[in-house]
Amino acid sequence: MPVKVSKICCIGAGYVGGPTCAVIALKCPHITVTIVDLNQSRVDAWNSPDFALPIYEPGLVDVVRQARGRNLFFSTDVDKGIEEADLIFVSVNTPTKKSGVGAGFAADLNYVELATRRIATVANSSKIVVEKSTVPCRTAESMRTILEANSKPNCRFDILSNPEFLAEGTAITDLFKPDRVLIGSLETREGVEACQSLAEVYANWVPQDRILTVGLWSSELSKLAANAMLAQRISSINALSAICEATGANIDEVAHAIGYDSRIGPKFLKASVGFGGSCFQKDILNLVYLSESLHLPEVAAYWRQVVEMNEYQKRRFSKRVVDTLFNTITGKRIAVLGFAFKADTGDTRESAAITLIKDFQSERAFVNIYDPQVEEEQIWNDLSEASPLIPIESIKKQVTICHSAIEACKNAEAVVIATEWKEFLEIDWEEVYKGMNKPAFVFDGRLLVDAEKLTKIGFKVTTIGRPS
Ligand code: NAD
Ligand code: UGA
Repeated sequence: MPVKVSKICCIGAGYVGGPTCAVIALKCPHITVTIVDLNQSRVDAWNSPDFALPIYEPGLVDVVRQARGRNLFFSTDVDKGIEEADLIFVSVNTPTKKSGVGAGFAADLNYVELATRRIATVANSSKIVVEKSTVPCRTAESMRTILEANSKPNCRFDILSNPEFLAEGTAITDLFKPDRVLIGSLETREGVEACQSLAEVYANWVPQDRILTVGLWSSELSKLAANAMLAQRISSINALSAICEATGANIDEVAHAIGYDSRIGPKFLKASVGFGGSCFQKDILNLVYLSESLHLPEVAAYWRQVVEMNEYQKRRFSKRVVDTLFNTITGKRIAVLGFAFKADTGDTRESAAITLIKDFQSERAFVNIYDPQVEEEQIWNDLSEASPLIPIESIKKQVTICHSAIEACKNAEAVVIATEWKEFLEIDWEEVYKGMNKPAFVFDGRLLVDAEKLTKIGFKVTTIGRPS
């Protein structure tokens, strides 16, 4: 008989663990959900009385407000969370390895392994252990080996893969109405029953036909495949944007025309200054590493090109800024609007803005930055991590963080739109123009603003995917 889940523990209170399990708690008032993390300040923020949560995500505060203290709890007591639960999500970070075998490509599975070992050490009763983190294909097997080698008598561990497909900025709507929930299990009786237990949790709000059950390895690989194919679409449209700039075609019109083909579809065809975020690059590199380990060099090269195209797009955009500003930006002031990797999030991981600003710094320009959500400290951390050899005091001489778009654009030669925040559409561009040095340039890396309107004001506008 499948276990009826009444207590869930989620290890990892990050961008995935927090929102995902908060929504489970909201939709399943009969289940107690405890989200645990080793990071005390993160847990404190989740528990903060004024709901100053550690991540910005539209709609998240409402969910936490309704469920916290009722059947949703945040804690640093990892062991207690594990001990009490019948189902445990492992939702820890799996960044790209920085050193050792596979450095720069393979996923660092240290956090997954530590969490797994903790479960094995602490558990006194049987548990369903669910991989929520994005992991290389067959990670569940390593987890099972660790758990089984360390389990106590009468403790069974059933491992499931249940990758998460939410996107930041729309996490809550994605979780409320997922395209699909994917659950992978072994095809043994116990595996199938564990799968049914988790499927029953989701069935509280997700229609049955959207809950897909597959084999463990297919589930693990499907997550990497989905991200690789989404990123590939962006690299494809960005590659076409370079052709548009050189020929006079317009990338918006091209995307519109090809998106009308129902086999291609209109979504995820927005040319940009390059994709960012914590996962696309990491997961493709992971797929590249997997392909190489399997002696499939052509497959590895195919996926690697998606990341290379993205790097090329960022470089191409900064070069276009320099070229347009009469081949030098030394001593000039550039306003960068947006620092997050996309709108509606405060997350900056792998944000294209970081690369652009680094390029402007190395050209010895002054940079003003404004982002409505990203904390000042985060910006300094990211810029110093991007240029480890430059002391932060030197970076601070070149870079200023501003509190509004208008302030950032004051006395600048050029405005670069790096994130598609809606508020940049509502800026008083006449006012911006008055405050800037002339000629005043706008570089739209997000196809956001109305180039015609800005040109009428007097700006010289350069848009990605359109000729200058
Ligand atoms: P994150 O860094 O925001 O959160 C991970 C959390 O795990 C951190 O707070 C960390 O302190 C905690 N942690 C690490 N080891 C721990 C341990 N042993 N015990 C307790 N806590 C521990 O990461 P994230 O963005 O939430 O991503 C988590 C996983 O989900 C990754 O594998 C990622 O690829 C995947 N994913 C992320 C997204 C996204 O939008 N960010 C979407 C889908 C999937
Ligand atoms: C992405 C996937 O969309 C999620 O399904 C997945 O769960 C998640 O990665 C993950 O595994 O972490 P996310 O990175 O949060 O979600 O955001 P996206 O909306 O996919 O955007 C990623 C990047 O691509 C952003 O920098 C965005 O600006 C850029 N993008 C997106 C474009 O340049 N053009 C587009 O048409 C779409």
